[in-house]
Amino acid sequence: MNIPHEDYIITPTQRATQKNQKPLLIWFTGLSGCGKSTLAKNLDVKLFEKGYHTFSLDGDCIRSGLNKDLGFTPEGRKENLRRVGEVAKLMLDAGLIVIGAFISPYREDRLKLQKTVGANHYFEIFVDTPLGICEERDVKGLYAKARKGEIENFTGISAPYEAPNRADLRIDNSKWSLDDSLRNILMEVEHRIAKN
Ligand code: ADX
Repeated sequence: MNIPHEDYIITPTQRATQKNQKPLLIWFTGLSGCGKSTLAKNLDVKLFEKGYHTFSLDGDCIRSGLNKDLGFTPEGRKENLRRVGEVAKLMLDAGLIVIGAFISPYREDRLKLQKTVGANHYFEIFVDTPLGICEERDVKGLYAKARKGEIENFTGISAPYEAPNRADLRIDNSKWSLDDSLRNILMEVEHRIAKN
């Protein structure tokens, strides 16, 4: 491709310095209904209240807009993550703390995401809620539909979820309260995003 790379006059470092923070992509991965969106939303509020400049990207939201042309085949999910990775990269360059909550079931796609934003800007949180619990809760009624064969390629039922081997943090949502989980996350991420 013959597309020249245009540099900005103001550098990503300058933008981050102005915001008095170190940009980071905080990435939640886990099954549908595992609680990643709830954690992401509440983390966003906590960081916002502490004065950080944040923005959050969520699977359900992005898939009803930017990525509404994509499905749930391995290729659809790969492209979903590729686009989200590029958007996250732009937001990091803008100096933001970015929070992402996507099932992102394939190890290879998560690795590519990490490469896109840079390993030092990527913090992966595995929301490790057992399938049985997600299915029992079935907040959106999707597991029941998937069991009846009404939804194809449903993660955990008819499509795989490749659990991270080396997530930066693992949240056991079946044992920890929301507050416990948030406290743990904050403890891990704050020193990475605070300007010292
Ligand atoms: S991802 O696999 O590509 O990362 P993403 O997080 O964007 O998925 O979207 C997941 C959401 O889409 C789920 O929470 C659920 O509400 C909805 N959904 C619809 N169809 C499926 C499916 N086949 N598998 C998983 N989630 C689905």
